[in-house]
Amino acid sequence: MVSSMWKMLRANVVIELVFLCTLLCSATASVSYDRKAIKINGQRRILLSGSIHYPRSTPEMWPGLIEKAKNGGLDVIQTYVFWNGHEPSPGQYHFEGRYDLVQFIKAVQEAGLYVHLRIGPYICAEWNFGGFPVWLKYIPGIEFRTDNGPFKEKMQGFTEKIVNMMKSERLFEYQGGPIILSQIENEFGPVEWEIGAPGKVYVEWAAKMAVDLQTEVPWIMCKQEDAPDPVINTCNGFYCEDFTPNKNYKPKMWTENWTGWYAQFGGAVPYRPVEDIAFSVLRFIQNGGSFVNYYMYHGGTNFGTTSGRFIATSYDYDAPIDEYGMPREPKYTHLKYLHDAIKMCEWDLVSADPTVTTLGSNQEAHVFSSSSGGCAAFLSNYDTNWWVNITFEGLQYDLPPWSISILRDCKKEVFNSAKVIPKSFHAKMTPVSSFSWQSYVDETPSADEDSSFWAIGLYEQLNVTRDTSDYLWYMTDVNIDANEGFLKKGGYLLLTVMSAGHALHVFVNGLQAGIIYGSLGNPKLTFQDNVRLRPGINKISLLSVAVGLANVGMHFEMWNQGVLGPVTLQGLAEGTRDLTWQKWSYKIGMKGENLGLNTVTGSSSVEWVEGSLMAQKQPLIWYKTTFNAPEGDDPLALDMNSMGKGQVWINGQSIGRHWPAYKATGDCGQCNYAGYFNETKCLSNCGQASQRWYHIPSSWLQPSDNFLVVFEEWGGDPTGISLVKRTV
Ligand code: GAL
Repeated sequence: MVSSMWKMLRANVVIELVFLCTLLCSATASVSYDRKAIKINGQRRILLSGSIHYPRSTPEMWPGLIEKAKNGGLDVIQTYVFWNGHEPSPGQYHFEGRYDLVQFIKAVQEAGLYVHLRIGPYICAEWNFGGFPVWLKYIPGIEFRTDNGPFKEKMQGFTEKIVNMMKSERLFEYQGGPIILSQIENEFGPVEWEIGAPGKVYVEWAAKMAVDLQTEVPWIMCKQEDAPDPVINTCNGFYCEDFTPNKNYKPKMWTENWTGWYAQFGGAVPYRPVEDIAFSVLRFIQNGGSFVNYYMYHGGTNFGTTSGRFIATSYDYDAPIDEYGMPREPKYTHLKYLHDAIKMCEWDLVSADPTVTTLGSNQEAHVFSSSSGGCAAFLSNYDTNWWVNITFEGLQYDLPPWSISILRDCKKEVFNSAKVIPKSFHAKMTPVSSFSWQSYVDETPSADEDSSFWAIGLYEQLNVTRDTSDYLWYMTDVNIDANEGFLKKGGYLLLTVMSAGHALHVFVNGLQAGIIYGSLGNPKLTFQDNVRLRPGINKISLLSVAVGLANVGMHFEMWNQGVLGPVTLQGLAEGTRDLTWQKWSYKIGMKGENLGLNTVTGSSSVEWVEGSLMAQKQPLIWYKTTFNAPEGDDPLALDMNSMGKGQVWINGQSIGRHWPAYKATGDCGQCNYAGYFNETKCLSNCGQASQRWYHIPSSWLQPSDNFLVVFEEWGGDPTGISLVKRTV
């Protein structure tokens, strides 16, 4: 008895000394690892981490988000680095505003948290082009993410740029900074599996390139079973308890525990119950895991045109901190309690390997008894339907289905993943003002008259726009002989237009003949309808609209968008006329974009109308208004439910693409997350807009005269737009 008390006392002194040292000796520190955990200054740690992506919020929001992460019990903030935001054209760097990476990392440091920097530079992340700048695609001879000279040179160049920047700002842990971990590449394993040998060479190269940069912190590669030493391979998923690193001297780390899922235009809104997240974390730790990152802890917003193909503007992700920066309850606080409980047992968890005993057909105990006499136990019930009462070390415990309890000192239940104490919050969106609008009708250009250039045949859209606009006009003329028989039968011909995506407006002689659009799963389109033509020259104008560039998939950088044909007319005396290989004129962007109508100065270049003259429910319209910022600090959004599709700017800055007309499809039935969440994501919002509300960061507003511009592609009722505040 005396000896075990002495042991405990000694252990406590050691723990306190270690913590004291982490506080006082933390000017500089070393980071290493062993089979159990990441070690900071030689001390193994259970690290709880959360993803917050700096460009998905504003610098004004960062300190508050980081503070909430700290209060939520996190040790680490994880972020990707967004190459295409930082290097929009080759050698022209941008590290300002939302892209001020150094300021973000320093904000984390000021809060006393660590950073896990996922440089990539391929990042996936539902981010436009997976983070790659579009210009990268046009480097001669380049092939992405494989053993390719030009690609490796650019990847290395950007990785070095970031590492050197971090070093010169003294941000790595050995320099006294907060960065304790880095990542190179992102989930390359599945790609390597497809491409074979060159993939293997590339992985070896990427690992060596990263390690040679001497950051003095461990590098990880997620979903990369063959990550070369000393790089640690890590797990991403809804569950990772069965994951094992590729060497027995590497720790078991979970880089992405998905707290929900991303929303796509046309899709229902995913969510993940906190009971399941907490369960997954405890199951991972009881099986020896020592690093868990929540992807996302704060998801935020895909401002401007930063989102990947068909990805919604909101990147809320059902994360513990919602898009607007407010704790989402009960998720936030339940996870905080989880973290508190884990930290109470941290020492035992990193010191000992668990002893596993079976307590029933679907129940187990994992007991961590450290040599210093400490003890932590996890009691688990994997049954998805039944509560169980179990006896452990002479005491009785009630375990809900699909739950794990953590027992401090192997006695006192300090947390159970399914016993949720915090109350749920329901966010309310309350209108605070509506607007009075002016409108301007954009033009429907036609071949020759308004084009930028012409060519024989159809060009791939990205090759033409280089992503400087979502919009590309394809225009051609069709000459109809006055003697054509179809003219006497109403004048209709069958027009077929095949497009690689993502949305398409068809105009014939200036009149809209139809709109079609694809989806994330199926971006390709075929327009087919009878259109009315007249004798002589007919003007066909096709407005092809991109909705972000693909961010994932085998060689996604090669995927096409835009009208690639065939384009045909059927019903003529000659049979089918193929328009694909005739003369096509092109125009990049809407006229309003080129005039800068989203800005105060640009907007003065055209005549706007209001009142009864205002254009409504017709396509390709610009709307503008001014408004005063409402009183109070509540987060703000625009309710765009009365609108179709387009983009919104406040004081010249884009708050993103709106597309409330795209209703959510999906199975919003019962949410059976327990045990098979991976296959059946929980969904909400079926039949409603995939995204109705669009976040306006309050720092983008001034007290009065805020300039609000909407470009509406489809046709909507702007009088239905309102400014709303979010309260809980
Ligand atoms: C992962 C990927 C992340 C993100 C996530 C889904 O596979 O690494 O970047 O795309 O999926 O949100």
